[in-house]
Amino acid sequence: MRQFPASPITAVIDDRPRYNLGESCGRDLSVAEILTAGELADFGRVTAGYGTSRGDADLRAQIAARHGVRAGQVLITAGAASALFLMGLLFGDGEIVLGVPCFPPTLDVVRGIGADIRTVRARFGDRYRIDADGLRRQLSPATSLVMLASPQNPSALAIPDDDITAVMDQMARICPDAYLLLDETFREAAYRGAAPRPSLAAASPRIVTCSSLSKAYGVPGLRVGWLTVPDPGLYEQLRLAKFNAAISCGSVDEYLAGRILSRAGEVPAQRAEIMTDAREIVEGWVGQARRTGAVVATGSRRVLQPGTRSRQVPRRWRRRPAPGPGPRRRHLSRARSVVR
Ligand SMILES: Cc1ncc(COP(=O)(O)O)c(C=O)c1O
Repeated sequence: MRQFPASPITAVIDDRPRYNLGESCGRDLSVAEILTAGELADFGRVTAGYGTSRGDADLRAQIAARHGVRAGQVLITAGAASALFLMGLLFGDGEIVLGVPCFPPTLDVVRGIGADIRTVRARFGDRYRIDADGLRRQLSPATSLVMLASPQNPSALAIPDDDITAVMDQMARICPDAYLLLDETFREAAYRGAAPRPSLAAASPRIVTCSSLSKAYGVPGLRVGWLTVPDPGLYEQLRLAKFNAAISCGSVDEYLAGRILSRAGEVPAQRAEIMTDAREIVEGWVGQARRTGAVVATGSRRVLQPGTRSRQVPRRWRRRPAPGPGPRRRHLSRARSVVR
């Protein structure tokens, strides 16, 4: 039997920590906030039949328009998590090169599937830039997939376009049949006053992107994400894999997702306000706690803001392994005692 690694971050949704300073979504929207008054009155008539294996046509058209691709290149998935899973599943018999640190399930998926994994580590001291030499060493003619996130999790830093071009150039030389899966889940989750970067979905026939409504739109429970897939043969295999796993996504979820995207000029701007206010609360808390303004203790790890100098990091937090369940509790109770 295949074994998926134990994943401490499932506690974030299963245990609902009281103070989750690592929360990546901001406040969740209610259905009443998603729909206009007229739509809310009609909501009772929305039917809950099967969706389609590709996903709702109107929703795909809206996503396609926002990414500069054709609707036929968009596959709706149960969040970006499912998009990552489907790609890992299809490419798991080749070598997969993965940028780390990353959203933990990105790594756990390919581990659980049993792929041959090569990692390229981005470092805090390099502002999480891709290590070009490290990447070149990990690529081989057997590489089938390279997985990177932009903005990256946990640093929230986007990969500069030139670095993506350099990655594509290296892949073209060493593994020309491989794809780059670019996880753009945080792309539109910008703070107040910052415009989101354009998607790279249309930048190359060898780039597949994934994203979702979870982070920038505040509806992670809708479980609506997507893949943009330029190659029709790959698209078809992904569609079949999705169909065999789930038949379709939830039709009610897709309906609500379509309504949110129809207000896409408005919703991310509101979210930017919420996220900026939340960040200010955390920064205020950090200041009050007389900790360094650059270091925030969270339940499961220590998060350093980009630009932090190492001497700003309290000595007791340096060079410690990531805490397991025991120390994690201690971090939480320390955080709670400071907040109270
Ligand atoms: C980088 C990244 N990708 C994908 C996901 C999955 O998000 P979802 O499945 O809700 O779209 C997350 C969630 O935290 C993430 O951080």
